[in-house]
Amino acid sequence: MRPTRWWETAAVYQVYPRSFGDADGDGVGDLEGIRQHLDYLEWLGVDALWISPFYRSPMKDFGYDVADYTDVDPLFGDLAAFDRLLAEAHARGLRLIVDFVPNHTSDQHAWFVDSRRSRTSSKRDWYVWRDPKADGSPPNNWISVFGGSAWAWDEETRQFYLHSFLAEQPDLDWRNPQVKAAMFAVLRFWLDRGVDGFRIDVAQFVAKDPALRDNPPNPHPERMRHMGDWSRQLHLYDHGHPDVHGIYREFRALLDSYPGDRVSIGELHHEQFEVWAGYYGRNLDEIHLPFNFHLLFSDWDATSVRCVVDAIEAALPAGAWPNWVLGNHDQPRLASRVGEAQARVAMMLLLTLRGTPTIYYGDELALPNAEIRPYQVRDPWGLVEPGQGRDRARSPMPWDGTPNAGFTAPDSEPWLPFAPGRETHNVAAQRDDLGSMLAMTRRLIRLRREHSALAEGVHRSLEGMPDGTFCFVRSATGDGSAPAVLVALNMTSEPRQVPINRGSGRVLEATHAHRIGSTVDTAALELGPDEALVVELEGS
Ligand code: NOJ
Repeated sequence: MRPTRWWETAAVYQVYPRSFGDADGDGVGDLEGIRQHLDYLEWLGVDALWISPFYRSPMKDFGYDVADYTDVDPLFGDLAAFDRLLAEAHARGLRLIVDFVPNHTSDQHAWFVDSRRSRTSSKRDWYVWRDPKADGSPPNNWISVFGGSAWAWDEETRQFYLHSFLAEQPDLDWRNPQVKAAMFAVLRFWLDRGVDGFRIDVAQFVAKDPALRDNPPNPHPERMRHMGDWSRQLHLYDHGHPDVHGIYREFRALLDSYPGDRVSIGELHHEQFEVWAGYYGRNLDEIHLPFNFHLLFSDWDATSVRCVVDAIEAALPAGAWPNWVLGNHDQPRLASRVGEAQARVAMMLLLTLRGTPTIYYGDELALPNAEIRPYQVRDPWGLVEPGQGRDRARSPMPWDGTPNAGFTAPDSEPWLPFAPGRETHNVAAQRDDLGSMLAMTRRLIRLRREHSALAEGVHRSLEGMPDGTFCFVRSATGDGSAPAVLVALNMTSEPRQVPINRGSGRVLEATHAHRIGSTVDTAALELGPDEALVVELEGS
């Protein structure tokens, strides 16, 4: 099926607003700072930005604790600054996707303040309040994603309320039609303002077991080690109840009632590919792009990566459009996870696979994790569960080689330290260097748009490739005039020779720039250590 909607051929770029550009010099990024860097995003060639939350918030979870869904936090600017950013992005042909945080509000949100006031408050049942068990303990054994019980005791009204994340992030009760109506009004507010879509925070949490049954223990907690305390249980009942699909069908109908193909991207974690794929909807009538995190959590070797790619291709419902992501504000940086040399291979993979890629800001510079000393920890998860902190992936964007890297005023203190190596890992240093990660990323974004085999072609993984290599072919389904493209990835630090076919090909793109434009013998294609090539196959 050929792509017809803008987001199918788009490259999405995630901006963490605290860390992209600080126009007012307080050390924290803001909307005006993003606006000032639109030139860069246009130069890079991405099609859409997704901005993590910038709404009014006490910032306990840096904006994922929303106190007012329809206003901008003064730290980031105001609604006028948002409108300017949106208008200017649109004028440059860039789409703008905002974050929608449906599962929980801040405890400072007027709804919760009211709800907490008394058991008879009109907003009491907008949240999940329950009596303690007879022994005074919480209503069930659910644990917060950030560790500890998911229930907080309210002394005044002598009941517990549910919080799947921080106690300052009480869960809304989506089974209450008033909650749904209020949250859909929030969506309309931003759609009317002109946003091009939403990224939905922890999308499957909005539907829980109505009986609030206990979760069973997890027999293999080591498989979910990265989740800390939360790995103790199998999360059968605290999210992902089948009723979730009805909610997203309604959500989708609302989006579809607006012109312009507004897009929904859902944050959906599920180890089982089929369950994850279920969020497209039985009739592709739920979430357009359930975020596909499977590469992000895959071991970084050719066999594992190939398994993920093939399994996703196989699990996709007919007509569903794939998407891929390698980094975000919750996970360690790509370059630290796979190493800098493999980060290039990974970027090539991300931008040549079939489907919509999302690039996390700074990954195009191969930014490593920032080194966060204990006194610099800002992330609430890192404060509650030492070691779980996500600050290292949220360091300020380095724009140039000046003392504060052009992120904030030279005499300001950035809210988090920069990642190491910013003398070379900054935009100014890499921009005109053909061999840089940034230049390669930019060329790949353009190539995938311009070459119809990459933009819309089918995917075929090649069999029988040597250990440590992953090779696939993309070929256009259109009128057949565009040649097929081979992507050959060496995921080891040793040279490899891959036998593809008898012909030859022309290197369109390479992790090592000197190979671009060369003609290669595809009967015995030589790949250097950590090298990856995009080759246009002759006579294909
Ligand atoms: C997922 C977000 O990506 C993360 O940053 C946040 O802490 C939780 N949802 C809670 O909203």
